[in-house]
Amino acid sequence: MDYILMHKRKKTARVSLDETEGYIREIYDVYAPEHIPVGAAGPEGTLDRAGLSRWWHRRAIPASRAGLREAFAIMDIDSPEYLLEKCWGLSLSDQYWMCPEGSSLTWDDVNFFEHDFSEDVGNILLGGTSPSRNISLMSPDNSSDGWLRKKWSLSGGKRVLIKGGSGVYRQEPYNEVLACRIMERLGIPHTAYSLLQQEGAVYSVCEDFITPDTDLITAADLLRNEKQPNHLSEAEFFIRICEGLGLENPRLFVDQMLTVDFIIANEDRHTNNFGVIRNAESLEYMGMAPIYDNGTSLWLNTRTDKIRPLSPKLPSKPFKPTHHEQIKLVSSFEWMELERLDGIEEECTAVLAGSEYIDEERRKVICGGIRERIGLLGELAGEI
Ligand SMILES: Nc1ncnc2c1ncn2[C@@H]1O[C@H](COP(=O)(O)OP(=O)(O)OP(=O)(O)O)[C@@H](O)[C@H]1O
Ligand SMILES: [Mg+2]
Repeated sequence: MDYILMHKRKKTARVSLDETEGYIREIYDVYAPEHIPVGAAGPEGTLDRAGLSRWWHRRAIPASRAGLREAFAIMDIDSPEYLLEKCWGLSLSDQYWMCPEGSSLTWDDVNFFEHDFSEDVGNILLGGTSPSRNISLMSPDNSSDGWLRKKWSLSGGKRVLIKGGSGVYRQEPYNEVLACRIMERLGIPHTAYSLLQQEGAVYSVCEDFITPDTDLITAADLLRNEKQPNHLSEAEFFIRICEGLGLENPRLFVDQMLTVDFIIANEDRHTNNFGVIRNAESLEYMGMAPIYDNGTSLWLNTRTDKIRPLSPKLPSKPFKPTHHEQIKLVSSFEWMELERLDGIEEECTAVLAGSEYIDEERRKVICGGIRERIGLLGELAGEI
């Protein structure tokens, strides 16, 4: 079927989309090349069918999402791409969508920022069962990324992202909160997460940091869009791209992100887990996205007796394979006042005390580990 790729109210391109298989068959016309999604065009800025098709595919729920097979069985659905078309590809993280050609739909009629939405799909994805009535497939969850079970929810007029935990210790929601406490004290701009207890399970909750006027553009898309020169490291390349877009002090952003990741031994800061915010109409780049998704950290899948908080081998992403190496990329610690973290161990202990899955011994090891890593950071920062 033919669609108009829309960026909010802007007609961007006319394409043929195979809704079920989820690929773009053909691009007929490009109306607004500057609005083509970042990362869909190749390094030279040229748009091709394959690039746009990959972008559409990445927009669907990843096949790796926990519990996806069971959720699809309940919904009687075969593919994430099929589900994506059911909400016209609309998202709560940017303003792109596919409007069926010839239809009179407008962004003002359908966007999830200004219109309430059913939580049927979200509840099923989160692991609940099917509602007794017909399931509404018009959901912003159809276009959400990431591995953990999650759903968008309406709460007091706000859009919030609710994420579960995984594995034996179900640590992710707590980790999100602990990372926030650390960033709050260090004055690092971040997405605020809180805990939600619901039907015996614990979730993290954060507000949407995107508005009807903005797009989240991930580092992955920015990096995909340009060819990395041989003489630049990936970190430096990312910083230069951001500077080129007129963003203010991306170097400080990277320094702060690598520092908090060092403290919490974050294992999963891949390039979809940070990014920048752009105005969806003027296309002006506005700032770095407040740091989000810090849950895969604090030894969440490591047995308590195997945790080695000071190990130089703790794995990291995205720029170096270990935190010991990655922290050396920080250009300046002048912004950092480590004494502001005095007492953080006790604060973290109190937060973790709420978890049914984390016993006292594990609590001690994790919170002691945070303290030890802050000490190590102080030593390394003195040397760097
Ligand atoms: N507060 C937010 N506002 C807008 N978009 C968000 C927000 N938080 C997350 N997102 C978007 O949703 C995606 C999934 O969220 P998140 O990264 O927190 O999930 P995850 O399952 O923990 O991911 P991963 O697979 O990296 O572990 C993010 O990559 C980002 O694009
Ligand atoms: Mg993520």
